[in-house]
Amino acid sequence: MGKAICFLLGDEPRRVTDRPPTETILEYLRREERLPGTKEGCAEGDCGACTVVLGEPDETGGMAYRSVNSCIQFLPSLHGRQLLTVEHLKRDDGSLHPVQQAMVEHHGSQCGFCTPGFVMQLYAGFLTGEAASRQEVKDWIAGNLCRCTGYGPIIDAGVTALKDGGHGRGTERPEAAETAAKLRALDNGAMLRISYRDETGREQRWFTPRSIDELAVTYSGYPEAVLVAGATDVGLWVTKKRRFLQTVIDVTRVEELQEISDTADALSFGAAVSHRRAAERLGVLHADLGELMRRFASVQIRNTGTVGGNIANGSPIGDLPPALMALGCRLYLRRRDESRNLPLEDFFLAYGRQDRRRGEFVEKLVIDKLPENARFGCYKISKRFDQDISAVMGAFRVDLDDEKIVAARLAFGGMAATPKRAAKAEAALIGERFGDTAFQKAAAALAEDFTPLDDMRASAAYRLKVAQNLLLRFSMDRTGDGERVHSVLELA
Ligand SMILES: Cc1cc2nc3c(=O)[nH]c(=O)nc-3n(C[C@H](O)[C@H](O)[C@H](O)COP(=O)(O)OP(=O)(O)OC[C@H]3O[C@@H](n4cnc5c(N)ncnc54)[C@H](O)[C@@H]3O)c2cc1C
Ligand code: FES
Ligand code: FES
Repeated sequence: MGKAICFLLGDEPRRVTDRPPTETILEYLRREERLPGTKEGCAEGDCGACTVVLGEPDETGGMAYRSVNSCIQFLPSLHGRQLLTVEHLKRDDGSLHPVQQAMVEHHGSQCGFCTPGFVMQLYAGFLTGEAASRQEVKDWIAGNLCRCTGYGPIIDAGVTALKDGGHGRGTERPEAAETAAKLRALDNGAMLRISYRDETGREQRWFTPRSIDELAVTYSGYPEAVLVAGATDVGLWVTKKRRFLQTVIDVTRVEELQEISDTADALSFGAAVSHRRAAERLGVLHADLGELMRRFASVQIRNTGTVGGNIANGSPIGDLPPALMALGCRLYLRRRDESRNLPLEDFFLAYGRQDRRRGEFVEKLVIDKLPENARFGCYKISKRFDQDISAVMGAFRVDLDDEKIVAARLAFGGMAATPKRAAKAEAALIGERFGDTAFQKAAAALAEDFTPLDDMRASAAYRLKVAQNLLLRFSMDRTGDGERVHSVLELA
């Protein structure tokens, strides 16, 4: 059983035993390693100033790299991985890395505060060979904010630096196999178990189980523990709410929770599958799901945030729950040796309350593939196109028998205290011919289904209106009449 967090900082091994496990990577870099190139802007995953790159051995014997927000990632997430910061781009001959050179040539930096974050995000694209086109570069840096440049010069720099897919993996870091071997030697695959006592005597425990049985046993031993997956919510409990987490169990190294199964009939994701990995499959399932995931937070957040976390957090404005509910997803839960499953919509009981017993965790979710006679669509409405939480999220599936609606699943986020299906609107559709008339009726019934949230993101009246219009839009989109969407019908 490992008791030290072992990782490579650049190419140098580190073995950390004496730091609080809920210290963030950013705090560690700046306080302990005195590497101040990585900046803190927001400390909540929003601005990208703290972007660093993590590498880990891949299945080919090389290295897989991804960018993360170091401000909300806890120190034990480094175990068995390589951490690269802007300092590691320094070259012996004093020349700039091509990503930095492109930023200079295109005037991509003014005050410079955001620059290390942009550079590291572009560097991640350089290593992975992703984000070649101008639009892809824009999507790639959607999680990085700049208050000076107006973005144009940075996008130009990105297009230059990443053209032809950058240098690609293995060319830029030719020692990948050697690095992977070093990391394998640092991490023997055993459960990481950390116990830390601060100067006041307060104890913190951290567990990183590696199998589902280890997780089940550990969680039943500490049922009051906080489970952490991608930490894109839990990280903020520490950095923003200043919560002290006494016992934490990290679920992301549990092999079974990382599994994806994709058959002709069904798609299944282990709870710890990242949004990044899930997006590839969801986009194949339906183009709207691909678009939803493109707009889900940022690359850095999608690289760590998980599908299980998006459900287990019970948020009324999470993006995946409505989409998955419309698809007819079943959720699998496990406690010790007991497993059970339920329709996803039954999991959400009330605001902040889910059907999850003490010591029980989300194991996986299973979605049936869409049959030929089904029509599906999902829409995210937010103030900002990129990297913004939904004000309203609508996801719809109807099954047709010769253009007659025989089944309907209409699910919404942002319309109630939980993600919720619209029972009355669904009933209004059954037996109707697919088209505007049917969806007008459903839109009218929606007012009986919901008392929408009313908060700083959107008023209740706005949310209801938008939700109704989304139903009409779905009808227009699927009848090939989508160009009428912008002069959408006025509802009473
Ligand atoms: C900048 C930013 C942008 C965001 N944008 C979006 C967005 O566009 N759309 C959106 O929907 N969300 C967004 N989020 C919210 C968040 O990223 C997602 O909800 C994410 O899916 C949470 O997953 P995670 O793995 O990071 O969860 P964590 O933070 O690790 O955990 C979240 C909750 O789930 C619990 N949990 C985790 N795994 C399990 C499990 N297997 N079993 C039981 N409980 C578990 C944890 O205990 C915790 O209560 C954003 C967050 C940030 C910081
Ligand atoms: S400091 Fe803003 S994303 Fe980390
Ligand atoms: S250069 Fe000043 S914030 Fe980007």
